[in-house]
Amino acid sequence: MKRTEIRSLLERTDYGTAVNVKGWVRTKRSSKNVAFIALNDGSTIKNVQIVVEMNEENDKLLERIHTGAALSIDGVLTESMGSGQSVEVQSKSIEILGEANPDEYPLQPKKHSLEFLREKAHLRFRTNTFSAIARIRHAMIFAVHNFFNDRNFYNIHTPIITGSDAEGAGEMFQVTTMNLENLPKKEDGSIDFEKDFFGKAANLTVSGQLEGELAALAMSNIYTFGPTFRAENSNTSRHLAEFWMIEPEMAFYDLNDNMDLAEDLLKYVIQYALDHCREDLEFLSKRQQDEEKTKKEDERSMELIKKLNFVLAEPFVRLTYTEAIDVLMNSKLNKKKKFQYIIEGWGADLQSEHERYLVEKHFKRPVILTDYPASIKAFYMKQNEDGKTVRAMDILFPQIGEIVGGSQREESYNKLLIKIKELDIPMESMWWYLETRKFGSVPHSGFGLGFERLILFLTGMSNIRDVIPFPRTPLNLEF
Ligand code: 4AD
Ligand code: MG
Repeated sequence: MKRTEIRSLLERTDYGTAVNVKGWVRTKRSSKNVAFIALNDGSTIKNVQIVVEMNEENDKLLERIHTGAALSIDGVLTESMGSGQSVEVQSKSIEILGEANPDEYPLQPKKHSLEFLREKAHLRFRTNTFSAIARIRHAMIFAVHNFFNDRNFYNIHTPIITGSDAEGAGEMFQVTTMNLENLPKKEDGSIDFEKDFFGKAANLTVSGQLEGELAALAMSNIYTFGPTFRAENSNTSRHLAEFWMIEPEMAFYDLNDNMDLAEDLLKYVIQYALDHCREDLEFLSKRQQDEEKTKKEDERSMELIKKLNFVLAEPFVRLTYTEAIDVLMNSKLNKKKKFQYIIEGWGADLQSEHERYLVEKHFKRPVILTDYPASIKAFYMKQNEDGKTVRAMDILFPQIGEIVGGSQREESYNKLLIKIKELDIPMESMWWYLETRKFGSVPHSGFGLGFERLILFLTGMSNIRDVIPFPRTPLNLEF
């Protein structure tokens, strides 16, 4: 018999029809005459209840069926009286596809800590929390492509291995085929990268932007959506060494157009989640509320779905970095030295505690900060007339801090060249980027949205390690 996925099975009303379901046992409970098995196949957060009559043959089978076992069940679709669902399956025949020894299977039908589940990342898809997150991740990938496709943006694959180390966005992972125990050396004792695979030093990319710009300066509107790598040793709940980034790049866009697009994208994908991931969001909302019961009332976060609607409701606040510094300097937290990093004045790099203060305490809305000091931003950002600031924009979200970073790009060949020299960026790795400013240069802009930070926000999870299936962080490469 052809298998029916539980997601579609639960929507059927053709009671009396013979069906086959396959999946993994979540729970089993037996009474005198019947046993109930909750089966899940990941197609939905919901389980289907399998009703098994107790008889000699089934009794023997049931002894071998425990949480985690994989079953194939032929049965009859039946209207359900009590399981909280409209249908259940009256089992006719059970095949055990794979047993799970209860003495060894780590996932028992009880609440496990997220830390414990991180150590069981090979099995954590089998929990409601992690399958819900995986389905939401999928929906968001789809939503992102929809958003851009609907607006005539072209998706460009930018390289993962790069020969340029110019962006300065973070420490890079080196890529080599050389024998690390016997590195070819030049006469001066330095490593001879000419002998390496590419004939030069290579790294994993920190961003697809620079190549994205090349495409935008021919195709107008493009976006990349790829993995990026940063070897910073930052063990925080918001940093990964391998994460996914969405990076649109648009010719003829100024910073305002750029901010409008980023705000539209964020609102579009949040609305998409509300429209397409309702059950998973409701589950995660309940989970978060349970988790926060121990917190004081005023420290609890807003209910998840309410929070998502809240972000959709109003325009994001837009202000300059300089204005934000004023707000922060005048804040009680700064005056009473309650921030971990006290803001001493203009020029300070904002930490996530400052970003969250602006969003959660002061403006109580997502915030877009613009026109940061040039000294704390990347070389490619368009320089303002004041000679001090650049046309940067960061979008700050509640609980997350920075979710988007972007800018208008410097289109002037001379200004860019001076900057590159100032910062000692090796020209030989950047000539191609500069040439786009020599031939048909135009104003253009772009930004990067951290995909996992977006999923963090959407799921209400508090650690970024829980919103990517196999997180890469310092000293963590098990799965
Ligand atoms: O602000 P970032 O470093 O900007 C860039 O890489 C630009 N090239 C983007 C562009 O203009 N095309 O990173 C962009 C976003 C951040 O706002 C954050 O959401 C996310 O990427 N991000 C990280 N997410 C997880 N782990 C990390 N280590 C991250 N670093 C940045
Ligand atoms: Mg940034």
